[in-house]
Amino acid sequence: MTDKKYPTPLLDDLEKGPWPSFVKEIKKSAKSPMVQDLLGLLERSYEEKIGHWKHGGLVGVQGYGGGVIGRYSDLPAEFPDVSEFHTIRVNQPSGWFYTSDALRTLCDIWDRHGSGLTNMHGSTGDIVFLGTKTTELEPIFSELTAAGFDLGGSGSDMRTPSCCNGMARCEWACYDTMAFCNDVTQTYQDELHRPAFPYKFKIKASGCPNDCVASIARSDMSVIGTWRDDIQIDPAAVKEYALAGKLDIGKDVAGRCPTKVIDWDGTTLAIDNSNCVKCMHCINVMPKALSPGKDRGATILIGAKAPIVQGALLASVLVPFIKLEQPYEDVKELIAAMWDLWAEHGKNRERIGEFIQRIGLGNFLEQIGLDPAPEMVIQPRTNPYIFYNL
Ligand code: HEM
Ligand code: HEM
Ligand code: SF4
Ligand code: SF4
Repeated sequence: MTDKKYPTPLLDDLEKGPWPSFVKEIKKSAKSPMVQDLLGLLERSYEEKIGHWKHGGLVGVQGYGGGVIGRYSDLPAEFPDVSEFHTIRVNQPSGWFYTSDALRTLCDIWDRHGSGLTNMHGSTGDIVFLGTKTTELEPIFSELTAAGFDLGGSGSDMRTPSCCNGMARCEWACYDTMAFCNDVTQTYQDELHRPAFPYKFKIKASGCPNDCVASIARSDMSVIGTWRDDIQIDPAAVKEYALAGKLDIGKDVAGRCPTKVIDWDGTTLAIDNSNCVKCMHCINVMPKALSPGKDRGATILIGAKAPIVQGALLASVLVPFIKLEQPYEDVKELIAAMWDLWAEHGKNRERIGEFIQRIGLGNFLEQIGLDPAPEMVIQPRTNPYIFYNL
């Protein structure tokens, strides 16, 4: 093996400063010729201010239509060891909980067959193996599956679902996000591995409206925990907060409630729960005194996406409240109805959010068998262009 160390003055600059340097990390792996070429290619991109990867790339493993993102350098003569530099998505465990043993297993497989560089984790949630050749894909895949790991999603399929750590570490989780995430991942393995949709479809699960996996912005179907009875109040703990003097309950809690439903007379805290919108503020500020109610479930929202083509969308409420208990039959019925409709009538590369905008929420609801509810809109329409079916 030839040792080709490229000068990297621009990248070296990024080894300075207090934040962990990705350049240092890459250099740690620079024994491999692939990583040396990657540094050389990246330095070139810094010099020229353009990417040096060719457009697209279509590779994969037998039986699956997604999971690997093919990538080829456009300077293969100069940097031959990154002429192929494919990325493998490996489905992460729910909530990203690992044993050292599991991580060592992954590292060993990747050191044997790839660059040794990773992304922990991709934005969707996957473990990302960064950089290998086409001939290594099947060997990696068989070693991964033997170790109990499977590929994640890519392309026009159900992508890898992800969730907040939920009940594993958080007292606010209104349902078991990890169990739910694992269940939908297993149930829809076929939809994940073999793209059958007009476009991608993402599911993300958060245990409460703090939405720690940002499901409302980054998943086509967002499942956010909530409750529909009263916030639980521990009056003794409220008193402790008041006496500690660090928190002005009147100003910082009651004063900031968006619907102004908290009553604080200096000694007792009362909440008009019928007008509480479950924003989490009071609970976030007084975690020892307040907690979500006991009648818990989730709100299902639909349609979030990035700007292309018709503009960015945050998800909109589809089901205001649903119980989330295994085996999640209601949710699966809803998913089946939406996928049937969108797969049949969605245009090529039309996200479900755009599909709903095109056909109209009313038609969408009618077709999947849901009744319209006031919670689905922020405000009623202001124009009078109302369609009637006489
Ligand atoms: C007393 C007589 C009229 C009244 C009170 C009236 C009132 C209105 C109103 C309230 C609108 C809706 C505006 C909006 O959507 O913001 C409208 C639109 C319109 N009116 Fe009239 N109108 C009158 C006479 C006429 C006449 C004589 C014509 C044509 C010869 C006419 C042509 C239109 C057109 C073309 C629009 C649609 C404009 C658009 O959609 O941009 N209107 N009218
Ligand atoms: C070659 C001739 C014409 C062209 C290319 C034309 C084009 C258009 C276009 C592009 C719009 C907007 C449509 C929309 O936003 O959905 C419009 C609206 C309208 N046009 Fe024309 N137009 C023509 C002739 C006429 C004539 C002769 C009249 C009436 C005598 C007329 C009355 C209207 C009215 C009332 C609207 C508003 C409709 C609404 O707001 O719902 N147009 N036209
Ligand atoms: S989304 Fe809610 S339940 Fe999940 S980790 Fe964040 S605060 Fe806890
Ligand atoms: S959760 Fe939000 S809306 Fe509900 S009482 Fe607390 S601050 Fe007010």
